[in-house]
Amino acid sequence: MNILLAGGAGYIGSHTAVELLSAGHSVVIVDDYSNSSPEAINRIEEITGKKVTAYTADVKDKAAMRKVFGENKLDCVIHFAGLKAVGESVQQPVRYYRNNIDTTLTLLECMQEADVKCIVFSSSATVYGEENKIPYVETMKRGSCSNPYGWTKVMMEEILEDATVADKDLSVVLLRYFNPIGAHDSGMLGEDPQGIPNNLMPYIAQVAVGRRDKLTVFGGDYPTPDGTCRRDYIHVMDLANGHLKAVEYAAQHKGTEVFNLGTGTPYSVLEIIKAFENASGVNIKYEIGPRRAGDLPEFWANANKAANVLGWKTVRTLEDMCKDTWKWQSMNPQGYIK
Ligand code: NAD
Ligand code: UD1
Repeated sequence: MNILLAGGAGYIGSHTAVELLSAGHSVVIVDDYSNSSPEAINRIEEITGKKVTAYTADVKDKAAMRKVFGENKLDCVIHFAGLKAVGESVQQPVRYYRNNIDTTLTLLECMQEADVKCIVFSSSATVYGEENKIPYVETMKRGSCSNPYGWTKVMMEEILEDATVADKDLSVVLLRYFNPIGAHDSGMLGEDPQGIPNNLMPYIAQVAVGRRDKLTVFGGDYPTPDGTCRRDYIHVMDLANGHLKAVEYAAQHKGTEVFNLGTGTPYSVLEIIKAFENASGVNIKYEIGPRRAGDLPEFWANANKAANVLGWKTVRTLEDMCKDTWKWQSMNPQGYIK
């Protein structure tokens, strides 16, 4: 298949590109590099020995996207192009709604014009909101989110689902990611956040490499076994493999299907710090600080549906996640050279 990766130069998109190319598919990447580097494209080509067709464009830009759809015969789209910083979304809600919703609408319009009938969407466990019991199952209703970022995911899921109601030939797969961490095991691709990292693993990795002084653990008094929050961390290459299975499934089906992509096993913040120290041999300086607004004490996936329907399951361990993160960060202490 020839697959369009909107936002494909980013963290999850770049790893997915490697997985798709290695399985024999072709990829076309569109990215405006607002949160990534063109160097990721070179690294994808170096790892796979294959050529990537890449466009620098804003996915909201209809004219630019019409050109991409016109110049390439596409079989499927994977939509990664979104803004994803929760705190920033509270400060800049309009920018988040504009970018995340408009990219989705432009893609759907271009797909309609070009008769492309398959789209896989990067959703998040955040759509389960606060109401649902853990572990989260796909049959649960979407909940209410504590921030605009989460609401954009809920709204985009609704929009995509509505599109399949109107067009019976359309296939939509909503992938609800849990907590992606880790890197490609070559150390050539990884997560390269701009500015101060919001997420746990990149923060730990930057402390390890000496870019940050110490980690603040957000809350030590949660009703969890060690008092810190628990999450379902998933290796980004296992997640990438989930996209491979999802596009192959989407190409054969119609309507909307939702899959959790997680391991089903939660780890606490303190367990992650310990695992990283063991994998890297580096001591991580940390202190327990106040809770972060909007954090839930714990959540993890019921990942049975992806196993039963897609034949997908995770194969990499927490040790792999930490080892590969450390390899990437120590080989690229400042991230991609901008
Ligand atoms: P990322 O920021 O590394 O990748 C997103 C990419 O999209 C970036 O390369 C960015 O430059 C690009 N982009 C954003 N807006 C664009 C636009 N208008 N036009 C063109 N390119 C644009 O993020 P990621 O971690 O790879 O996440 C990919 C997707 O998965 C996002 O939609 C995110 O919300 C979702 N997601 C991520 C996580 C996570 O923990 N990383 C969890 C759940 C869901
Ligand atoms: C966060 C978002 C979620 C989004 C996901 C990927 C919130 C509330 N949720 O998930 O919507 O889909 O990122 O972008 O922001 N932690 C620390 N110290 C740090 C950083 C994190 O202790 O410096 C803790 C957090 O409290 C949390 C855990 O580490 O318990 C994981 O945090 P993080 O990596 O930010 O992911 P989530 O909060 O689960």
